[in-house]
Amino acid sequence: EGVVVGVDIGGTKVLAGVVDDAGRVVRTALRTTPGRRVVTSRVEDALVEAILEAADSAPLEGVGVAAAGFVDSAGERVMFAPHLPWQGEPLKGLLEGRLGCPVGLDNDANCAARAEARYGAARGATSALMVTMGTGIGGAVLLDGRVVRGANGMAGEFGHMQVVPDGQPCECGRRGCWEQYSSGNALVRNARALMTEQPSVLGDMTDGNPDRVTGPMVTSAAEQGDLVARRAFASIGDWLGIGVANLVAALDPEVVVIGGGVSAAGERLLDPARDALRRTLVGAAHRRVPDLLAAELGPRAGMIGGALLVGEAQPRR
Ligand code: BGC
Ligand code: NA
Ligand code: ZN
Repeated sequence: EGVVVGVDIGGTKVLAGVVDDAGRVVRTALRTTPGRRVVTSRVEDALVEAILEAADSAPLEGVGVAAAGFVDSAGERVMFAPHLPWQGEPLKGLLEGRLGCPVGLDNDANCAARAEARYGAARGATSALMVTMGTGIGGAVLLDGRVVRGANGMAGEFGHMQVVPDGQPCECGRRGCWEQYSSGNALVRNARALMTEQPSVLGDMTDGNPDRVTGPMVTSAAEQGDLVARRAFASIGDWLGIGVANLVAALDPEVVVIGGGVSAAGERLLDPARDALRRTLVGAAHRRVPDLLAAELGPRAGMIGGALLVGEAQPRR
C-alpha cells in the first residue's frame, strides 16, 4: 500500500507528513530549511529527506509540495521565492526524478487554503481569504472552495502589497511590503527594537544580545507576560488587521482564515487584528465585517493541502 505525503517548505522549516484520505496526519518529519543563499540542490535534499522519513519506507503513491514561493500556472516550477534560493526551479520534475512518484506543486498558502476549505475554518464558505503568517505572509483567494490562481499562477501574494512607501526592505527586493510589518520576521524585529527600550525576559534569554532573539523566544516571553513580547505581538496583530481591511475592501469575503506558524499565538494576534479590521475597514458600520478565524488545521494546513494536490486530474485555476 502506497502512502501520500504532503510537504510544506517555508523560510525556516520543512514539514512533511503522511496524510490519509480523510485529511488525518499519520506521521510527520521536520527539517530546517537550509537558507536562501545556498545551492538549490540542498533545499531539494532537505525536502527529499523529510519526505522519506515521513514515509518510513512505505512506497510513495504521490507527493504534494506546498512551497513558499511563486509557482507557475502549470504547477511545475517555482519562478521566484523571497525566502528561498529558487528562481525558475523545475521542482516538480526534479522531485519526480528523485522520488520516482508523481509530484504536485503549488504555493504554500494556496495549499493551506484548500485544506481549510475542505476540512477546516473555511468549510462551507462561498468566498474566503487565507492569510498565512510565517517567515513572511502568504495569501490565497478562495471562491466556491477553489483557489483563484491568476494569469501567472501568482494571485494572492498579499505579503508583498506595499503598505509603507519606502518602508522596511523586503526579501523580495522591494520596500514597505506588508510582511515586513506583520509576520514572524516582523515579530522578531519589533521585539529586538523594543528590548533596547525597556527591560524584558528576552534580555535574559539572549544574554542581552538582541540579534539572538528568535520567534519562538518571543512567543514564550509573551506567555510569561513579558511586556516587550506582548507589544511586539500587538503591533503585528494591528498590522494584520490593517492589511486584512484592505483585502476585504477589495474582495468582500465571508470569512478570513489566519494560519501559519505565528497564528499559533491565537488571540494574542487575532484580538488586535479584529480591532484594527473594524477600525480600518471602509463602511464597517454598514456591513457584516467578516470573521477573522484561526486556521483549524493550524500550522499543518499547508502540509495537508499539499497532500490534496496528489491525484488532482485537472490543472488548477
Ligand atoms: C512568499 C509567498 C509565501 C509566503 C509565506 C511570501 O514571502 O512570497 O509565496 O506564500 O511568503 O510563506
Ligand atoms: Na498564494
Ligand atoms: Zn516583499
